[in-house]
Amino acid sequence: MTKRTYTENIFAGTRQDLLDRIEQHLRPKRFAHVQRVEQTAVKLAQANNVDEEKASIAGLTHDYAKQRPDEDFIAAIKQYHLDPELLNYGNAIWHGVVGAELVKHELGIYDEDILNAIRHHTTGAVYMSPLEQIVYMADYIEPGRDFPDVDEARKITAEDLGAGVAFQTKHTLAYLIENNQKVYPKTIDTYNAWVPRYPNV
Ligand SMILES: [Fe+2]
Ligand SMILES: [Fe+2]
Repeated sequence: MTKRTYTENIFAGTRQDLLDRIEQHLRPKRFAHVQRVEQTAVKLAQANNVDEEKASIAGLTHDYAKQRPDEDFIAAIKQYHLDPELLNYGNAIWHGVVGAELVKHELGIYDEDILNAIRHHTTGAVYMSPLEQIVYMADYIEPGRDFPDVDEARKITAEDLGAGVAFQTKHTLAYLIENNQKVYPKTIDTYNAWVPRYPNV
């Protein structure tokens, strides 16, 4: 288990306190996943000169709201005056965009870079900070992931974080289209912003 001491006062407690809070909301498999995302995010942070404590916190909290009932998200969209268009989507979009608000108000984490990393981890965004890119990629390539292109995704991400973002964005959009699934409009914006910049992915 990663031994990590928090010193930046981003979260009011130790890493173990944060783990305990998160564990209350996640089933064991999901709880194991967020710890692997943390581990991968911290490695990517080291390689890309990004704050490791932020990578740890963002990795652990990115799926904090994943297993909440729909009613919690609908209530939060109204309570926090989020875009009403969000009501037309579901958990896949909500657990990031709306989940960030729950992390802020329930866990008391106000760091906007971390909150944006949570907001954008499923859809990506036109602008993503290095931390946002790290969480987006760590979620995709953490050691428990197993899909045909995962080793290629890991290799590309190790070489160039931005190229990894383009790779994931392209493959996710292709998958949605192949399976006749609804595409969240911001995912198209992410595609346009990232994929043409990396012609080789
Ligand atoms: Fe997620
Ligand atoms: Fe995740």
